[in-house]
Parts: sequence; structure tokens; C-alpha cells
Amino acid sequence: CGIVAYIGHREAYPLIIKGLKRLEYRGYDSSGIALLNDGLNIYKKKGKVVDLEATLINENLTSTIGIGHTRWATHGEPNDVNAHPHYSASQNLAIIHNGIIENYSSIKKNLIKKGHVFYSDTDSEVLIHFIEDIQVNTGCLLEEAVRLAMKEVVGAYAIVIMDATNPSQLIAARKGSPLVIGVGDDEFFFASDATPIIEYTNEVIYLNDYELAVVRDGELTVKNIDNILQSPYIQTVELELEAIEKGGYEHFMLKEIYEQPRSVADCMRGRVNADSGLLVLGGLRDYVDKLAKTKRIVIVACGTSWHAGLVAEYIFEELARINVEVEYASEFRYRNPIIKEGDFVIAISQSGETADTLAAIELAKSKGATIIGVCNVVGSSIPRATHAGAYTHAGPEIGVASTKAFTAQVTVLAMMAIAVARKKGTLHEDTFRRLLFELERIPSKIETVLKTDEKIKEIAAQFKDSRNFIYLGRGYNFPVALEGALKLKEISYIHAEGYPAAEMKHGPIALIDEEMPVVFIATKDSSYEKVVSNIQEVKARKGKVIAIVTEGDKLIPTMADYTIEIPAMHEALIPLVATIPLQLLSYHIAVLRGCNVDQPRNLAKSVTVE
Ligand code: G6P
Repeated sequence: CGIVAYIGHREAYPLIIKGLKRLEYRGYDSSGIALLNDGLNIYKKKGKVVDLEATLINENLTSTIGIGHTRWATHGEPNDVNAHPHYSASQNLAIIHNGIIENYSSIKKNLIKKGHVFYSDTDSEVLIHFIEDIQVNTGCLLEEAVRLAMKEVVGAYAIVIMDATNPSQLIAARKGSPLVIGVGDDEFFFASDATPIIEYTNEVIYLNDYELAVVRDGELTVKNIDNILQSPYIQTVELELEAIEKGGYEHFMLKEIYEQPRSVADCMRGRVNADSGLLVLGGLRDYVDKLAKTKRIVIVACGTSWHAGLVAEYIFEELARINVEVEYASEFRYRNPIIKEGDFVIAISQSGETADTLAAIELAKSKGATIIGVCNVVGSSIPRATHAGAYTHAGPEIGVASTKAFTAQVTVLAMMAIAVARKKGTLHEDTFRRLLFELERIPSKIETVLKTDEKIKEIAAQFKDSRNFIYLGRGYNFPVALEGALKLKEISYIHAEGYPAAEMKHGPIALIDEEMPVVFIATKDSSYEKVVSNIQEVKARKGKVIAIVTEGDKLIPTMADYTIEIPAMHEALIPLVATIPLQLLSYHIAVLRGCNVDQPRNLAKSVTVE
């Protein structure tokens, strides 16, 4: 979910609506806003922020204080009632909440016994009732009631509370869900990330877990859950407004696909120089040595980041000969994993906020592992929870389906593996130099692939009505197949499966008939001949083959129905380029099917709940 709040001298409504639109990638099944004018008024609507806006045309929305929310449902279906903000029993307090209160049902039962009536199915409504109940029972200040509630609730939250009886005050708190405070001139902004704030100020405070912020009469104070005053660190965010706008592209996803030559180059900037044999990852300076000595690396991640982890497994094992396991963060944390001191855990996350990944990190830390983060969002929770790490520097990724973050993750992980392998002595100096040289050429190879976009669009038109897709690849291209299938599922709602090409004959081959498109990542690498055989197996069963091939391949075009060429490169780096046509293919299919590419149904970009 995304939260935005404002207190100051500007009109809060337009500012909050704009902010909610910027945060819509975090959830968009319903939204709402609370303002203070003639008392506390809450407006909420199922659907997108524009749907909310449309219902408010004739309302009096004047107010210089307000809170807003865009939701990704956890408790209760997406509807007007379950949308945020929620009221307290007296209807004086309104809350916006991102996260999940795990013990809400026991708290709710107690409150119901005391006569509280709840209108929604949400844990958030329970939380604001609970806070007010504490306030009423103890006669304390609202901020004290929030603090006492924080001691009782289990789960994750970023909250902002507005009080109709105190119009010059906003109270916010955080545990486990992100919250940024923008500090302006006599005004304060609260948001899930800095994007709604940077238009107004670049001075921000990232609230820490178990901290409570109170703005009252233009003054900000921050204290922790034990009531000890904190001196918050104000930092300057370096985020350009244009980086979070579409800049002429029809969708953020397309913009982000096209940004990849630059984002991959940005990711390597100052880190790689083939001429001088330079490869440095500043944040890992003290850790390359230790990684070179470790016997085992466990990678934890979710979604697309997990696919980047799979690519890393192949690269690390091949180049550095280190045993690597790749785990879904959510599985890892709930099955008493074997982690010993000396083990390294690499956590990969675009947002740096994914709750499952964060929890996996805490678990691994408690067992003595050293944690390395590979994240995109600077200052987010995961980088703060790790011992060391390397940012991907891909710039803000707004489209819900991850594209440029994936290629940047693979770039960072490849650089890490190369650095570690060199330290360990498993990589010849020649190969080391060659890999750096090849890395430097990736952006221009991506550029070349982007030029085939028209052709990809034509292929997309042929398959837009398909009901299923299979994606196949071997070795380094197996994770690429998984990622290609995920992209298609996410944005076009076509069922797609990624498989190792050789595994096809053990099951999925039963699905193949003339209706079934099969996408092969069939580049000239060590498994080329084997993949050629797999293509023949599909053609023999009348499947339709779309093949990603290496430039100049003469054989596969004679068998496949469609081919898309990519330039030749070192095998370990192929995923960085082979992914691009698959991103474009799913993009065009989704657009042709009339899907909302940037905000696909049911998904959210930053999943801060377990
Ligand atoms: C969500 C997003 C995916 C993303 C995954 C992991 O499910 O919809 O696109 O890959 O979370 O997110 P992270 O920010 O940790 O990379």
C-alpha cells in the first residue's frame, strides 16, 4: 500500500492526490483521503485514484492537513468500506496504515466486548480503535496512546494518524513498513517513499523501526518506543522528477525497458574498467575476500529478484566454484534452514522492502550468517538490515512488472561473482579481462536488441489470443525462461510456464499441439545442440516456436516459426540481453490485449506484507 500525508500551508488535497498517483504502483485496488474542514471528512473509493478523484468534484476539499492511502488488499476485499483512511470510535481520529497487524483479531474481540462497532474487515480499523481506547482509558496524549499500542501490536506497520480535535498535529509511526518524512519550510510530508515528496523538498528523514514522529505546531519530534527522544538524520535525496515520470512513453514499463542500456551502464559506472582491469564494488570492499573463502552462499529473494538469484547461482558456481543455493525468501524463513556461521546470504530486492526477504535476512542474521544486499532503492529497509551490499542504481522502477531492475541485479551479481572468482584464483586473468570487456559491451548489445522491437510487436500480434505459453531454456537461459514466463503472466494474464528445456519431455510436452506457442531461448552456447533437439521435439508435435537466437544462426531459423536475434556474447552474460526481447514480447501482447500494463490486476510492486 502507499501512504501520503501533509501538514503545512498548502492545499493538502491536490498534493495528496498527486502523491497517491505516484505511489499507485504499491497498490491500486482502492484509495481514500481524509481532510479536516468542518470536522473530519473521509472519502474513499474502490478502484484507482482517478476513480476517487471523480467522486469528489463537488466536495469542499479545502484543508492544509490531510492523509491519503492507496491500497493493496490484505484483510478484506477491495471495496469502499475496506479502503483507508479508517475512523476511530469517536470519529475524531483517522488512520492510514501500510502493513499488517497480526494479532488484530484478539484485540478486535476485546474491543467488541467493550462495545466497539467495526464497519470494515480490516486490521487497520482495529488499530485506530485500539489506540483511541488506550487514550480514553489512560487519559494520555494521543502520541502516548500510539506508543503504548505499538508495544502491544504484533506485525508490520507504517501509520499516520490525524486528529480532528488537534488540527495542527500529525502522528506517524513505523515498524517494518517504510515511511519517509519530507521536511519543508513550515511544512511536513509523509509518504511510503520519497517520490511524492521530491517535488517540494529533497530533505528527508527515513523513520526507523519502532520510531514515532509527531508534528505539532510546525515542530517535528521523533522518539522511540521506549519514549526516548531521537535526533533524526535529515538526508538529501537525489532523485530527479523526470526519473519518476513517463517522459513521452506510453507506459512506465516501456520506458523502463528502453532505459536498460543506460541503467546497466549506470550500474557499472565507476565499478568496471576493462582497459585498466578495474572491478570494484565499493560497498563490498571488505567482503570480497571473505566471500572468496566461504564454502556456501544462500541467495534469498522473491519474484523477479529470485530469478536474478538463479542466474547468479550459475555464474558463481561456474566462475568461483562456490556452492550456491537459491531460496524463495518465504520458504526459507519458515523451514528452519541450515545456516552456519561463515555462511553468506545474499538478499536481492528491487524495492528493498519485501517483507518476506526482510524476515529471511533477520533469521539468517540470528543464525550467524553475513548478509549482503543487492537492492535498487537507496535507503530502503533491506540495505539497512544487511552487513554490506551493492546498490543496483537502475533508478526508480515504477512499472509493476520488473524489467530494468532485473538486468541491473544480474549485472551487480555478475560483477560480484567475477570479483570473488578472481580473488579466489578460480578465474584466469585472461577470462577476467574478457568478462570485463564483455560487460562493458552489454549496454550497446541491449541497444541492438531494442531495435528489433517492431518485429517483436508483429510476433506479439500473432500470439495475442493464445491461452497458454511455454518458455524453455537451458543453463544460464533457464532462469531467463522463468523470467519470460513470469513477465507474460503478470501483465497479460496468459498462463505461461518456464521450464528447463530438457525437462519438457518429462511432462509439459503433453501440452504441445498446434495451439501452443513455445518460446525458446536458443543462443549459441554450450547447450546449443541440445536445445536444437528440443526445438525439433516441439516442431514434431506441431507446436509454434518463437526462438531467441544468436545473430547469424542459420540452423534454427529453418525450424522455428519466428526468430529474434541477439548479438553474441560470453555465455554467463547472455541473460542480460536475452531477457530484453521477452520483456518486449510480453509488453506488446499485454497492450494488444488491452491490459493495464503498469498496474496489472491483483499485483503490487512493493509487497510489505508476508
Ligand atoms: C512483487 C512484485 C514483483 C517483484 C517481487 C519482489 O511481487 O510484483 O515484480 O519481483 O515483489 O520484489 P523486490 O522489490 O523484493 O525485488
